[in-house]
Amino acid sequence: MTVAAVLTAAGSGSRLGHVLPKALVPVAGAPLVAHAARALLDARAADGARVRALVVTAPAEHLAAVADALAHLAPADVPVTVVPGGATRQASVAAGLAALPADVDVVLVHDAARAFAPPELVARVVDAVRAGHDAVVPGLAVVDTVKRVASWDATGGPVLDTPPRDVLRAVQTPQGFARDVLLRAHAAGAGRAGDERTAASDDAGLVEADGGRVWVVPGDERAAKITTVRDVVLAEALHAAPVPGGAP
Ligand code: CTP
Ligand code: MG
Repeated sequence: MTVAAVLTAAGSGSRLGHVLPKALVPVAGAPLVAHAARALLDARAADGARVRALVVTAPAEHLAAVADALAHLAPADVPVTVVPGGATRQASVAAGLAALPADVDVVLVHDAARAFAPPELVARVVDAVRAGHDAVVPGLAVVDTVKRVASWDATGGPVLDTPPRDVLRAVQTPQGFARDVLLRAHAAGAGRAGDERTAASDDAGLVEADGGRVWVVPGDERAAKITTVRDVVLAEALHAAPVPGGAP
């Protein structure tokens, strides 16, 4: 089986509010997209499989900057392709899928915003796909009690119900798929991709909507999504840049 990855980095990072698009914001010595790419490239599945091709979605006006951020990261035999993203994450993933080499049969979809997802997590997802699951997501137990609300405005809104916490998982990326299953799900859901109000927020959701089965593997706290300045400060503290030349 041949594994490839689509790494989404085309968002603007509006909630972070940096002058750069979020994926290019440096944290712990490198842009977020470079950290995320490195974990994908460093991962080794139990049978030795690794990512053989990487497609990265970038803001149209930052294609060269994203390519620069990834220069020299991949081994010579792993092609890295940077493509312009779309209006939503779903549209960006679709653009990335269209650029995959033909011989790929397992696809990872990963967010540059989850820059510190470790290679072990990537490998766990690949292993589960190779074990026969068509669609695999990492998930963590939810620590907060979660309420569903019937409606919401600036003053708040009424509770509809409280899902039992033990069946809830907060899902992360990388998510892994049999390529044909993911392509079919994206084709079936293509009509949702143009607008944030309708677009799927993750790829497994498209597989579910297409009638497919999704398997959850244990997630990893390090794969937390970087959304706000607070998340950047926390990531910087947790992953302080290595001392140049090595620690004393
Ligand atoms: N993404 C993308 N194309 C889009 C929107 C998002 O490739 N049109 C990517 C982002 O670059 C990110 C991932 O999808 O790696 C998850 O999105 P999110 O964390 O929401 O990032 P942004 O959309 O950049 O941030 P914000 O929503 O705050 O603007
Ligand atoms: Mg977004």
